[in-house]
Amino acid sequence: MNLLITGGAGFIGSNFVHLILKEQSGVNLVNVDSLTYCGNLENLTSIEDNPRYSFVKADITDNEAMEKLFAERNFDAVVNFAAESHVDRSITDPAIFLKTNIIGAQVLLDLTLKYKVKRFVQISTDEVYGSLPETGFFVEETPLAPNSPYSVSKASADMLVSAYVHTYDLDGVITRCSNNYGPYQFPEKLIPLMITNALEDKPLPVYGDGMNVRDWLHVEDHCRAVWAALEKGETGEAYNVGGSNEWHNLALVKELLKILEKPESLLTFVKDRPGHDRRYAIDASKITNKLGWEPTYDFASGLRQTVEWYLENETWWRRVKSGAYQSYYKQQYDL
Ligand code: NAD
Ligand code: TYD
Repeated sequence: MNLLITGGAGFIGSNFVHLILKEQSGVNLVNVDSLTYCGNLENLTSIEDNPRYSFVKADITDNEAMEKLFAERNFDAVVNFAAESHVDRSITDPAIFLKTNIIGAQVLLDLTLKYKVKRFVQISTDEVYGSLPETGFFVEETPLAPNSPYSVSKASADMLVSAYVHTYDLDGVITRCSNNYGPYQFPEKLIPLMITNALEDKPLPVYGDGMNVRDWLHVEDHCRAVWAALEKGETGEAYNVGGSNEWHNLALVKELLKILEKPESLLTFVKDRPGHDRRYAIDASKITNKLGWEPTYDFASGLRQTVEWYLENETWWRRVKSGAYQSYYKQQYDL
């Protein structure tokens, strides 16, 4: 299979690249990534010479560059991970979210049709459903009700995929996953930010009252769900992906401090995120029943393993936090 993945230098995309090269010997991967602030080729150094892998630096919204790629390579499938992904940034600068997450998806969808690529997988998020009260779960039939510019842009892309399936017979599937954690996550997101700040004895900024709830899943389990959707998903269907693992932010941050043996005095309550969604919780029974997917990590060991990864990869996160990582691709790819 010739697989195009977009955004493979980011957190989830790079974990997907590692997993697929390790476990799927029949797959050749092309990774297209424009290397925004969170695209980091240092996530991929151990596989960059693998003959089944190649990297192309390009922007998914650049129709000409994308068309060149689709015309040159005979892709069997596209998995679209590329996105602007941080809610806080979408609140201060929505424009790039609409461009990358909506127009980027449209460019890829058009080329998927034009070059008769067999399957398109859109990596979406549970945030498209909006916020839950204290009870209840998101199912695939839950109406889309996004609240942030980020989640609006993701919901728009989902609707585009559905429209292309309905109108042009595109073979498209959508995955909607809950919050991920694991290696290579950019330290602006909750878990890696708190781990690395604690290691530097810096304050841990908890938004509002810390009682917002997220449903955490190990990134490798998300990647396995994406593979299941690519291989076995039914055209036009969306699949929720989650670990039935809800945590209040405050409890989770305290748990991290316990693992790291750091004092709770580092906790700092800060001004809440505007429009902060209160609770996300996924019902993943459809992907379990229809595609046989189940999470493999339990949270206690997954979280410990993640903390250990950040301890063992201090150079990686220090280079990210200092900005030094951005020079790596320039040397490596002579750009
Ligand atoms: P990330 O921000 O770590 O990585 C995104 C990648 O996309 C980066 O490598 C970046 O350089 C690349 N990119 C951005 N704009 C691009 C463009 N115009 N052209 C080409 N490449 C571009 O994000 P992530 O956390 O790995 O998320 C990946 C996908 O999964 C996103 O679509 C996100 O919405 C979705 N998702 C994330 C989570 C989560 O918890 N992180 C949960 C559910 C779904
Ligand atoms: P985040 O990792 O940004 O993911 P998302 O907003 O997409 O769920 O945030 C997870 C939760 O942690 C969310 O409720 C916001 C909260 N949060 C903090 O309390 N402090 C922080 O510094 C960050 C980045 C997030």
